[in-house]
Amino acid sequence: MSELPEDQLRQCGQSHLIDVWKSLEEPARSRFAAELCSIDWSRIERLWRRGISSESSAATQKIQSPRALIRLPETEGQRQEWAAARQAGRDLLAAGRAACIVVAGGQGTRLDFDKPKGMFPVGPLSGKSLFQWFAEQLATRERHAGQTIPWIIMTSNATHSETVAFFEEQSFFGRAPETTTFVCQGTMPAVDAKTGEALLEGPGQLALSPDGHGGLLDALERDKMFDRLAELGIDTLFYHQIDNPTTRVCDPAFLGWHLREEADVSTKVVEKIAAAEKMGIAVERDGVSCIIEYSDLPDEFANQTDARGRLEFWAGNTAIHVFRREFLESVARSESGLPFHCARKKVPYLDDEQRLVTPDEPNGMKFERFIFDVIPAAKKALFVQGNRKEEFNPIKNASGSDSPETSRSALLALHKRWLVEAGIPVPDDARIEIAPVVATTAEELRDAIPRIRQPVSGDVILDASTLAPE
Ligand code: UTP
Repeated sequence: MSELPEDQLRQCGQSHLIDVWKSLEEPARSRFAAELCSIDWSRIERLWRRGISSESSAATQKIQSPRALIRLPETEGQRQEWAAARQAGRDLLAAGRAACIVVAGGQGTRLDFDKPKGMFPVGPLSGKSLFQWFAEQLATRERHAGQTIPWIIMTSNATHSETVAFFEEQSFFGRAPETTTFVCQGTMPAVDAKTGEALLEGPGQLALSPDGHGGLLDALERDKMFDRLAELGIDTLFYHQIDNPTTRVCDPAFLGWHLREEADVSTKVVEKIAAAEKMGIAVERDGVSCIIEYSDLPDEFANQTDARGRLEFWAGNTAIHVFRREFLESVARSESGLPFHCARKKVPYLDDEQRLVTPDEPNGMKFERFIFDVIPAAKKALFVQGNRKEEFNPIKNASGSDSPETSRSALLALHKRWLVEAGIPVPDDARIEIAPVVATTAEELRDAIPRIRQPVSGDVILDASTLAPE
């Protein structure tokens, strides 16, 4: 049975938890004690104090555009460089040196969907889930590579069981189950933003939330994934988020640039649409590459333009990365690890009368780690530009910008354009969805064109069953 860390709780301003513990019956009492023992309460107190202090980070620092940045090609010479990078990426995939990681542990509060976001029906006509969308993309990449690409899915206490059950129900989307691994990230307690006291979501139940996408490092290390990947001969990790269906999974060109430039970490960036857009920006801060959050970029920098009137700090973070496995492992095993960020959020909590209160305004403070904080630790951090329309259409909000509507419309527009570029006439009112298992780019679609056996008009889903066999 765990001993209650009473002294630590008192010293760290958490005496109320001792009273809660006393009020519980067994076995809830022992369970609660064990949970309290597993948390470093002095760290929570430190983080809360830092969260309420009004430190301004960027103002006094020297900020400039990142130097290690590959722009989309404009000249013939640059196009050849990109083609060479693409080939290097294809060779890497064919050699079985890459794995794909998708982080799907977030609570998706803004989307207001009561299941894990990966189960969200993104297919504009088919209603396919995001998980299936990415499974199909991966299948296409594997087919071209002639190799299996291990798939690692990070879940959290909020998404794990439903995600695993969904994969089982969907027969792993046709993949051999042993090629898919789930790693479950850790949690952090949320505290009352005013007092720093840990919030409870039920009697003897702390309000816990996932520890941020940066929790990936601990999750991989805990499950011995770095060692397992090394045994499989995997030295390169492609990383993306679950909510952008236009991510080019294991994009050969991106992987190739990462290799050619011998980077520890590479980040796909796209042009910000406006100075005020809420998007992290790739910069060098005091000479060190990093992503700076939009809220930390002072207006004088955000609005700065170059000689041609374009934003100086334009390179928005898409949260698509490539990591050298050994680099990520070294950060995961370093003593300091990734820093925590504090955010004020609405956290439902039990009040003194044991009633569950759902606040209208942010009342709590949550602590999260961010994956992009590995960038400053890299010897070489590279940024590679992607085409925003083609590659960045995330689903964040229930409506308005970055919503299911904008993301599905982007997919339909993209797929229509690919067909037109391949010389297939498409009526204006046609709605076409191209299954990722058929093609993930215009170039891949061109190869599938001779197998299309139905007219492309009206509402059409081009998937494996509607194409003639190869
Ligand atoms: P967001 O920061 O957009 O958060 O996550 P979210 O949970 O999806 O949505 P909100 O903010 O509650 O509305 C970006 C990506 O990081 C993953 C998410 O699943 C998404 O793919 N993520 C986020 C995790 O895997 N774990 C976390 O703790 C947080």
